[in-house]
Amino acid sequence: MLVKFAVIGGNASKDLAKRIARKLKATYVETQTKIFPDGESKITCGRIPKRSIIIVVQSTYPPVDTNLLQALSIISQVRKASSKIYAIIPYMGYARQDKQFLNGEVVTMSIVAKMLQVAGAKKAFVVDIHSKAALNHFKIPAANISAIPELAKYFKKLKLKNPLVVSPDIGGYLRAKKFAGLLNIDFVALKKFRNRKTGKVQIKSSKVDVYGRDLLLVDDIISTGSSIIKATQFLKKQKCRRVFVACTHGLFVGDAESKIKKAGVSQIISTNTIPRTTSKVDISRIIAEAI
Ligand code: R5P
Repeated sequence: MLVKFAVIGGNASKDLAKRIARKLKATYVETQTKIFPDGESKITCGRIPKRSIIIVVQSTYPPVDTNLLQALSIISQVRKASSKIYAIIPYMGYARQDKQFLNGEVVTMSIVAKMLQVAGAKKAFVVDIHSKAALNHFKIPAANISAIPELAKYFKKLKLKNPLVVSPDIGGYLRAKKFAGLLNIDFVALKKFRNRKTGKVQIKSSKVDVYGRDLLLVDDIISTGSSIIKATQFLKKQKCRRVFVACTHGLFVGDAESKIKKAGVSQIISTNTIPRTTSKVDISRIIAEAI
C-alpha cells in the first residue's frame, strides 16, 4: 500500500517543513499563528488530509516554551484526523537538561518527551540531539539524525591549509572524529570546564599543535558562544591560521554571533534546524530520507 504523507509546519520551522514536504512529494498543510499581547499563541491549522501519516515539523528554539507549546498544540489538533503522527523536532530544546547535575534539579527533557507522547506523537525525529541520554527519555520510537555529513560536505568545498578539526570539549570527541573522518583529516578535542553554578567556561587543555593551520571548530549547539569564543582565544594564542566554526544548531543568544566574529572567527556555518543567516546547510533531505 502506498504511504501518503502530509507535512505541517509550525511557526518556527515553516521553510524547513516546506522543503521536507517537497522532498517527500507530500501535501503541505499551512498553519497560521497569532501571538496575543499576553504571549499566548493562537494557532489555526489548514485542512488535514485523512488516512495519511502526518509529519509535524517544529524546532523548539527561543522562545523555547512558546515553540514547544505550539508543537504540542499542532500535534493534538492533527490527532483528530490521523493517529499516525510523527513529531519532527529538528532542534530539541531542553535536551541539555537530560540528567541531574546538581541536587534538586528537574530533568525537564523527560517531561518534554512525555508531553510529546501524550499530545499524540507516535514517533519522534530529532537532529544531532545533545546526548544519547536525552533521546533515552522517549518512550515512543525516537531517532536521531546526524547533520555532520551535510556540514562536512560544505567544508569539503573550501580550500584549507593543513586543516585540523577541533572540538571545544571532550563531550564532542566522537562528533569531531566523525567530521574529521569524512574530510580525511586529523582532529583534537579540547578540555573545557563549565562552572555549573555560574555557567562560566574555561579551556584547560595543554598546548596543541595548530601553528599556521586552518582550524574547523565543530559543536552541536552554539548558545551564548562562550565555548566557541574561549576555544578560539585559546587556539589563536597558539598562532593558528584561520578558525572556521561549524555547528548544527545556531541559537546565537543575544549578540553571540558578533562576539564570536570579534574573537577572530573567519566564518560561522550552521544548519537550518534553526533559521539564521549562518544556516548555509540544508538538512531537509536527510530528514526526508530518515522518515
Ligand atoms: C555543551 O556541551 C554543548 O555541546 C555546547 O558546547 C554548548 O551548549 C554551547 O553553549 P555556549 O555557546 O553557551 O557555550
